Amino acid sequence: MKKVLVTGGAGYIGSHTVVALVERGYHPIIVDDLRNSSLIILEGLKKLCGDGFSFLSIDICDKNILFSVFEDHGIQAVIHFAAYKSVGESCVVPLRYYQNNLIGLMNVLEACQTFNVQKFVFSSSCTVYGEPNGRQVFENTPKHLPESPYGFTKWMGEQILEDLHRNTQPFNTLCLRYFNPIGAHPSGLIGELPVGIPNNLLPYITQTAAGIREYLTVFGNDYPTPDGTCIRDYIHVCDVAEAHVCALQHEGYVPLDVFNIGTGKGTSVLEMVETFNVVSGRELPYKLGDRRPGDITEIFANVEKSEAELGWKAQRTVEEALRDAWNWEQQLKQHD
Ligand code: UD1
Repeated sequence: MKKVLVTGGAGYIGSHTVVALVERGYHPIIVDDLRNSSLIILEGLKKLCGDGFSFLSIDICDKNILFSVFEDHGIQAVIHFAAYKSVGESCVVPLRYYQNNLIGLMNVLEACQTFNVQKFVFSSSCTVYGEPNGRQVFENTPKHLPESPYGFTKWMGEQILEDLHRNTQPFNTLCLRYFNPIGAHPSGLIGELPVGIPNNLLPYITQTAAGIREYLTVFGNDYPTPDGTCIRDYIHVCDVAEAHVCALQHEGYVPLDVFNIGTGKGTSVLEMVETFNVVSGRELPYKLGDRRPGDITEIFANVEKSEAELGWKAQRTVEEALRDAWNWEQQLKQHD
């Protein structure tokens, strides 16, 4: 059984990936200090995966402890999720973002070199495209500078990997550029756990429907799109999770490669609200507000390369993702 180290494996995308890995016969070893997660997720994973995974509560920025994990567990592959991810927060406390996201990454990479790991999967983001010239982005669409320190940590993460591969060929590396992951596991046992007031659209929608927030503010309705609101490529988190299994199984022809992880289809904010109303049977209260600084008008993935080379394609609809997100929000209430 292949042992895969999953940093940040108790996080949102990480936990769903752990389930997908166990289903495909891998043994994930989660390293996560739960600073942005909770025992609720570990309990959910236990129910879904039994003893199929291991959990170690450590901070990957502590290099000695991280190295001891590699020493003790015979790690063959690494999927690196552990990072802070709030765009707004990163503007307020940039040093915390650079320290955590970049030192964590560099420690993990050094451990991979030292312990001869064969495969490394990096959580990147469509944020590396910045404000693209076109609406649909390909993997070779030129990168632009991101708008936030968070975005820069992903941008620089990719740069570190490029530099590492330029002169050495340490291990096969795949950067997965996620678009907008949403939804939850259909069981309602794991899902997104935003800390404080959510910044992202989906948790804000479900918390509003649950009565935790009064109304959703739609950030801008004067964009040059059919209904005036921004368009994103929303993808079910279980589809994102499965992309990681395909990434591990991918026989790389090149030592470093990049893949878009989206559906290829854009949806506007108002379309998301309308679809949420249909799947939840509720009428979400919302107000039209000002544009949010830094938001781009429209972006969605071209996924031909992922389909052709990773053998991966998103299978689930936005409706399913919204239904599962709403189910998760209702389950969460029971933990209060
Ligand atoms: C951002 C980042 C992305 C990151 C993701 C997760 C950029 C360009 N994108 O995505 O890299 O991975 O966060 O943290 O940095 N909206 C509202 N009202 C709300 C919340 C959101 O109208 O209360 C709208 C936004 O204006 C946007 C859409 O919903 O048009 C999606 O926003 P959000 O969920 O925050 O994701 P992104 O900004 O696309």
